[in-house]
Amino acid sequence: MKLGFIGTGAISDAVIRGLLTTDYPIDQVIISRRGDRFSTKLAADFDQVRIEDDNQAIIDQADMIFLAVLPQIAKDVLSSLTAPNDKKLVSLIATIPIDDMKAWLKTDARFDRAIPLPAVEHHACVTAVYPGSDDVMALFEKLGGAVAAKTIDAFDGYATGSALMATYFTMLESSAQWMVAHGSDYTDARRYLAALFGGLSENTLKSPDQSFAALVDGHSTPGGLNEQVAKTFEREQGCTAIHTALDEVFARIKRAASA
Ligand SMILES: NC(=O)c1ccc[n+]([C@@H]2O[C@H](COP(=O)([O-])OP(=O)(O)OC[C@H]3O[C@@H](n4cnc5c(N)ncnc54)[C@H](OP(=O)(O)O)[C@@H]3O)[C@@H](O)[C@H]2O)c1
Repeated sequence: MKLGFIGTGAISDAVIRGLLTTDYPIDQVIISRRGDRFSTKLAADFDQVRIEDDNQAIIDQADMIFLAVLPQIAKDVLSSLTAPNDKKLVSLIATIPIDDMKAWLKTDARFDRAIPLPAVEHHACVTAVYPGSDDVMALFEKLGGAVAAKTIDAFDGYATGSALMATYFTMLESSAQWMVAHGSDYTDARRYLAALFGGLSENTLKSPDQSFAALVDGHSTPGGLNEQVAKTFEREQGCTAIHTALDEVFARIKRAASA
């Protein structure tokens, strides 16, 4: 299998490094010279990686081609290219609909969209794929797992969910600052909270049959401190704030897709 990457930025780098450290069968990875910051190092680090200056040559030589340029230049870059119908295309580009990319690439080739996150480099994140072709699912399974979105709304829902990362760290920072105000060193508070939430994530991953609601019950003694914080969070509209934020991000993704 020969993979091609048009746009060698942060996310291509993570996908390539992740894949080349699994047993996924890859003969060659052909990457665009742009961006040079990543492509030069990838070619130096892996024998299978080869740099190509011409994007059309990447499409012509690879079996499965990943599109990973920024959304704002996607039309310009892809319109200058043609993808034969026997190629497999995987777009990592946020918001751009498959039909637009097919028109720009003048192709009826098989097409998936995917949202890998940087942790794929360490095989440590689940990637949402739409519509979820078997070969693309198998590839992302190697990078930590894959979920197939049955509809474009479900796929955009995963993209929306991925926007929770900064809020997670905001909650940790806010909690650490509260502990500092009550006498902790910031370093100790950070270490304590990172281990607390890391442990919770590990337990959650190890018990896939338990819903989050069941985990809330499992971590709340009736009348105890965890139950108290959860009730205050609810009373202070914490869940409403999260749903409002997700609604707004979802609407933004839909607006960008129809622009
Ligand atoms: N980062 C994430 O966590 C993430 C997650 C999911 C999806 N995505 C999506 O993945 C795509 C790439 O994101 P990124 O974070 O990897 O961005 P990035 O680091 O800015 O990478 C984009 C790359 O495209 C290259 N490029 C620009 N013009 C090109 C051309 N004509 N031909 C070939 N390559 C060209 C740029 O090279 P130069 O540096 O030379 O300009 C740059 O290296 C985006 O559409 C983004 O929405 C990102």
